[in-house]
Amino acid sequence: MAQEDVFKKIVAHCKEYGFVFPSSDIYDGLGAVYDYGQMGVELKNNIKQYWWQSMVLLHDNIVGIDSSIFMHPTIWKASGHVDAFNDPLIDNRDSKKRYRADVLIEDQIAKYDEKIQKEVEKARKRFGDSFDEAQYLATSKNVLEHAAKRDELHERYKKAMNDGNLEELRQIILDEGIVCPISGTKNWTDVRQFNLMFSTEMGSTSDGSMKVYLRPETAQGIFVNYLNVQKTGRMKLPFGIAQIGKAFRNEIVARQFIFRMREFEQMEMQFFIKPGTDMDWFKQWKATRLKWHLALGFGEQNYRYHDHEKLAHYAAAATDIEFLMPFGFKEVEGIHSRTNWDLSQHEKYSGKSIKYFDPESGESFTPHVIETSIGVDRMFLSVMCASYEEQQLENGETRTVLHLPAALAPVKLGILPLVKKDGLPELARQIQNDLKFHFNCQYDEKDTIGKRYRRQDAIGTPYCITVDYQSLEDGTVTLRNRDTMEQERVAIKELNNIIADKVTITSLLKTL
Ligand code: GAP
Repeated sequence: MAQEDVFKKIVAHCKEYGFVFPSSDIYDGLGAVYDYGQMGVELKNNIKQYWWQSMVLLHDNIVGIDSSIFMHPTIWKASGHVDAFNDPLIDNRDSKKRYRADVLIEDQIAKYDEKIQKEVEKARKRFGDSFDEAQYLATSKNVLEHAAKRDELHERYKKAMNDGNLEELRQIILDEGIVCPISGTKNWTDVRQFNLMFSTEMGSTSDGSMKVYLRPETAQGIFVNYLNVQKTGRMKLPFGIAQIGKAFRNEIVARQFIFRMREFEQMEMQFFIKPGTDMDWFKQWKATRLKWHLALGFGEQNYRYHDHEKLAHYAAAATDIEFLMPFGFKEVEGIHSRTNWDLSQHEKYSGKSIKYFDPESGESFTPHVIETSIGVDRMFLSVMCASYEEQQLENGETRTVLHLPAALAPVKLGILPLVKKDGLPELARQIQNDLKFHFNCQYDEKDTIGKRYRRQDAIGTPYCITVDYQSLEDGTVTLRNRDTMEQERVAIKELNNIIADKVTITSLLKTL
């Protein structure tokens, strides 16, 4: 099945099983805004808990905060967002569609890579077992031509972006013959900068209202509180502050479902360090964060680092952790070396000293910062994409199953009485009432047992128990494993011991 179709199926599955709904659905939705349903909110909460505990519980030098969405507007001037948080946009005059100029060019660069990949696949078929990919890449005339064009375009693009040269971006689009996917024409407007922050008014107009912004990142709430936390928490460098919260960006091109939203959630951690230790900590956090992703068991081949060439206005070095979505490798998390840029800016704009006093050296200085920043929604999407499978079974049937890591699954145990009579529902309810204090259980007595298994597979429930007549006699049930579909007979009183250990966030954290 084409990857595009797989993605459409995942989006449909998210809606059908209560994971994600378009926002304002009965009003035909609102662009790039989504609601999480009864299953989605559980999965999302588990992702957040996995992140929060890996930061705050496992590091005694990391603490959390919860700062407000509205902040003093000067914060966004100081942080550079008012002046520099822009995307270059371009319109196609025929289709009236708006695009990000940088994305159009990046897609074009990716096309050269796709061409190279096609050449490789053709050659692999031609040469069979004797094919040497490295040698082919280094010597094939066609490959070398595509690679040269890609590199030339890449250099030109990088320079235009770094120089903020909007005319050159437009010229690249024209020179590369990039057409609008809707109209198919090259009738492009000039490239303009577009600020991504949403704003609103605070206070009544008679008092003189103030323009405030909906925060485009949670990080600034950490920066402006760092000294409050440091002093009240008696924190010593190096230390970190973690936060989970909503962020808002008026994305020009909002597409790919919850990948690029206008209202989304971030999990950010700012790690305050001594100047000069930046690269060591940057490397360390890169490794720590990749390990966190890999612990979910989706396979190393699905992740890669992508070092930034065009750095954000605050960054000295930056890497993305990308995940292989059905639409290619995409950024899920960013790790940034932000130097002392933000703190220095806040000192300048607030006129207050927010220097750290080092009790060991007796010196005061502005700490440097390494940031890890991950989108909850993108993480959610990566988990859904990696877990979704339409599986062909030996008996010729297919089942749709979500192989969610047990610790993230919304429901941990499906409790299914074989029939709706003879005391089986009562015993099943009793088991539910015992286990519900330990993990999330779902009771289901409707339809055949096969249909009920399928429903639990579709929401990623790692275990199901069936309460049958034998259960009444000997106090045992069948325990079914979602992935292997194998069943074993276990004692009801052992269920908590068997399951709890495998489905908790703690079990996942222990693998880190
Ligand atoms: N404080 C740094 C910062 O905000 P960023 O790379 O702009 O850096 C960090 O964003 C993460 O937030 C991204 O890696 C992504 O996972 C998520 N994110 C950013 N924009 C998003 C959007 N429009 N929709 C969903 N997630 C987004």
